[in-house]
Amino acid sequence: MIKVDLSGARSFFAKGGAPNYAGAAKAHRALMEGTGLGSEFTGWLKLAEKMQGELKALHAAASRIRGNSDALIVIGIGGSYLGARAAIELLSPIDEDAHKNVATQIFFVGNGLSPDALNDTLEKLGSRDFSVNVISKSGTTLEPALAFRVFKQILEKKYGFSGAKKRIVATTDARSGVLKRIADQEGYSQFAVPDDVGGRFSVLSPVGLLPMAVAGIDIDKLVQAAIQSMKDMGTQSPENPAWQYAATRQYFYEMGKTVEILGCYEPTFRYMAEWWKQLYGESEGKNGVGILPVSVEYTADLHSMGQFIQDGPARHLETVVSFKNNRTKFKVPFEVGDSDGLNYLAGREFGDVQRTVMDAVRQAHIAGGVPNIRVEASSRDETGLAELFTFFELACGISGYLLGVNPFDQPGVEAYKKAMFKLLGKP
Ligand code: PA5
Repeated sequence: MIKVDLSGARSFFAKGGAPNYAGAAKAHRALMEGTGLGSEFTGWLKLAEKMQGELKALHAAASRIRGNSDALIVIGIGGSYLGARAAIELLSPIDEDAHKNVATQIFFVGNGLSPDALNDTLEKLGSRDFSVNVISKSGTTLEPALAFRVFKQILEKKYGFSGAKKRIVATTDARSGVLKRIADQEGYSQFAVPDDVGGRFSVLSPVGLLPMAVAGIDIDKLVQAAIQSMKDMGTQSPENPAWQYAATRQYFYEMGKTVEILGCYEPTFRYMAEWWKQLYGESEGKNGVGILPVSVEYTADLHSMGQFIQDGPARHLETVVSFKNNRTKFKVPFEVGDSDGLNYLAGREFGDVQRTVMDAVRQAHIAGGVPNIRVEASSRDETGLAELFTFFELACGISGYLLGVNPFDQPGVEAYKKAMFKLLGKP
């Protein structure tokens, strides 16, 4: 289970002040009872349970892809992209079949409009056999739609029209949208994005699960762990980690901390942070309110952003994610002569050095006026991943309600789309 440690935050609470746990309780109840804003999009609360019925079909699709493809082109953007990438990069799954040289490499495209990026992917793909998983709930998003057009034509050229169709899986709305219409017409394999789940809350649906399964992540374990984690966080008490995180960040927001910096000492966390930024940024930043979500990679960013975090304007709080268990043990080697003066660390585990540095940075940042929240997941595997996804989602719903916004809509993204389609000359 996720642990939230507020010991680095408490000293910043005003005298007699405390996070609003009564508000968190109310927000949690509103989520569970479907009485809050945007309640028609709270299907993610029970998504993992629902997915148990889809696992068989997901495994079948994944093993077909792994059987006939050296690469899977995953086309999607935003909530139809970041979760899968976050999971695959965090776990860096080892393909069980790698020794047989049938590992299927995942390429993410359709998450931008750069011709160079598209070309780089095509060059890396080369003449390998591949399949496509096109993911778009609306089915009308420009970036993935354009990328799909490109890769569909390449597939058709390579495998013929009927061969291409067998290599495309569409993950889209169950009933409507352009992609749904095309998928029905062409007879593509399909998975549905549930109606009651918005993009940024969809990672535990086929949107995230199919690419993860192809990459070798144990999605059965992930789904079971997510069910357990949601159950664990069902507790109605200030011990609930989701309440603690949501209420504390909102407490600091009210004290003028308008920026939250999310850090982690595992470089593979990079896309988890991107996923988190979308989750919180798009859910909370509206009606002129919201905490700006920013991320850093430690220890690398201590040497770039460290100065600002320590000493810049005191508008931020810091949340640091860690894993209880390191996957790997690695000792600092001893060196005869100690020419670099590092023998004082010889024999110590890198993980131990990392934890010590983490404590030191925390101490320094707290002294610099930066409240610190620690979030600890159990391990960097499917269980830890499920804990993080469910924890951040639940806390986001609670936090959004505490802030007084609808965390499940994104009206602000329409403005640029309107301008974009006008300038592009969309009929
Ligand atoms: O969270 C969201 O709703 C968005 O980030 C969407 O996921 C993103 O815009 C992609 O939309 P779609 O899946 O409709 O292509």
